[in-house]
Amino acid sequence: MTSTHPPAASTMRLEGIAGRVAVVTGSGSGIGATVTETLRKLGARVAGIDLEAGSAGPELALAADVRDEAQVDAAFAEAEARLGAVEMLVTCAGVFTPVPIADLDLAEWTRTIDINLTGTFLCAKRALGPMRRAGFGRIVTISSGAGIDGGTESCAHYAASKGGVIALTKALAKESAADGVLVNVVAPRAVRTPMLAGMTDGMDEAIPVGRIGEPDDVAAAVAFLCSAHASYVSGEVLVLNGGWW
Ligand SMILES: NC(=O)c1ccc[n+]([C@@H]2O[C@H](COP(=O)([O-])OP(=O)(O)OC[C@H]3O[C@@H](n4cnc5c(N)ncnc54)[C@H](O)[C@@H]3O)[C@@H](O)[C@H]2O)c1
Repeated sequence: MTSTHPPAASTMRLEGIAGRVAVVTGSGSGIGATVTETLRKLGARVAGIDLEAGSAGPELALAADVRDEAQVDAAFAEAEARLGAVEMLVTCAGVFTPVPIADLDLAEWTRTIDINLTGTFLCAKRALGPMRRAGFGRIVTISSGAGIDGGTESCAHYAASKGGVIALTKALAKESAADGVLVNVVAPRAVRTPMLAGMTDGMDEAIPVGRIGEPDDVAAAVAFLCSAHASYVSGEVLVLNGGWW
């Protein structure tokens, strides 16, 4: 069975996003770029953080390496100064280079954990303080199916980093819900972005709904979790895998 592609996530009608300020990491490509476009079309003011500030997508494009606490702090400070208090954070910055465990050296392990897990921690920690003091916030992190079941092949480092993102998200959710900050995680399996370039042959047939995911599938889930309609949802893992299990 082949299902049709999703409509653009920005065509959803959602309350609670328009007029709010969001930070999206990894905004320069793939899922982060579509999340940025979606939140902007739904009326949010979006600051994007990526390694380079060249993207035309966000209202405010900021260069920062999410592994670097000082750079993260400076980017958030600029977003606050230019757009106002940050009320939503979506952490899409991430890397995946498949390496079999026998060839996985400490440098690649550390790089992957630092960007995917520590980068999520640093951005969430920086966002949480002001959100908790304001009594409102929405944080959506991006894990992966690999973070739940170990993935398909050559991804021990990636799976470990994404499993960590799930545990981190659940812990943050417990600590923050009473202060009005809801924290959830989206876990896609395979999404058509530059990260999977050259790796998607034959994948459509392997997925029960008949296609790999599109960035709009992820952006729709993120937008829902940022919206007022999800105000009773926190610490949840929203799996997007086309019926893989
Ligand atoms: N594409 C998939 O199949 C898939 C599946 C599950 C989860 N994910 C996750 O979704 C997120 C987005 O992935 P994507 O597919 O859009 O990939 P992508 O490669 O298209 O985009 C990732 C973005 O993160 C940025 N980035 C990388 N390192 C950074 C750093 N240190 N500091 C700041 N920015 C940095 C890159 O410059 C890039 O713009 C990632 O966390 C990825 O692990 C992707």
